[in-house]
Amino acid sequence: MKVLLFPGSFDPFTRGHRDIARRASRVCDKLVVAVMENSAKQTLFTAEEREELVRLSLADYDNIEVISSSGLLVDLYKQLGCCAVVRGIRSESDFRYEAELALANRLLYPEYDCLLLPCRDDMSLISSSIVKEVGHYGGDISKMVPAEIVDIVKAKLMKGRI
Ligand code: PNS
Repeated sequence: MKVLLFPGSFDPFTRGHRDIARRASRVCDKLVVAVMENSAKQTLFTAEEREELVRLSLADYDNIEVISSSGLLVDLYKQLGCCAVVRGIRSESDFRYEAELALANRLLYPEYDCLLLPCRDDMSLISSSIVKEVGHYGGDISKMVPAEIVDIVKAKLMKGRI
């Protein structure tokens, strides 16, 4: 069974993330989407909230499982018996970051591998940070996050203003 792992901080999950999950799920038997911690980022949504948002966004996909993990990516990778990690890239700077991440993970675990999927043209400007910025000022985030979670994300971002 070919298991791919799609890790991220997903703060919050976006349409871009969902498109990567959808495409990756077509080339494996099972895709595990893992909500993880990035020590360089302070998240707005809790791990439980982020996991629930991913779950709601991907409910229609039979071969996608959603989990949370607070450890090292390579440990999860080994534990799940993955054949590769999948990450989406929007730009050259994303590519550099991903190349560094892959190198570091391979130093920790030589069997580690990573597939990079270029994002769709119309998703290249969507990021969790942009969603938070637009939503904070009451802007329309409906084209940026999956329809199933628009209201929940909007409510949380508006609450943060008070
Ligand atoms: O969506 P992000 O913030 O770019 O995702 C980064 C993430 C969560 C995949 C990365 O920070 C990660 O793998 N975190 C788990 C801890 C870990 O293994 N760090 C990287 C070691 S090189």
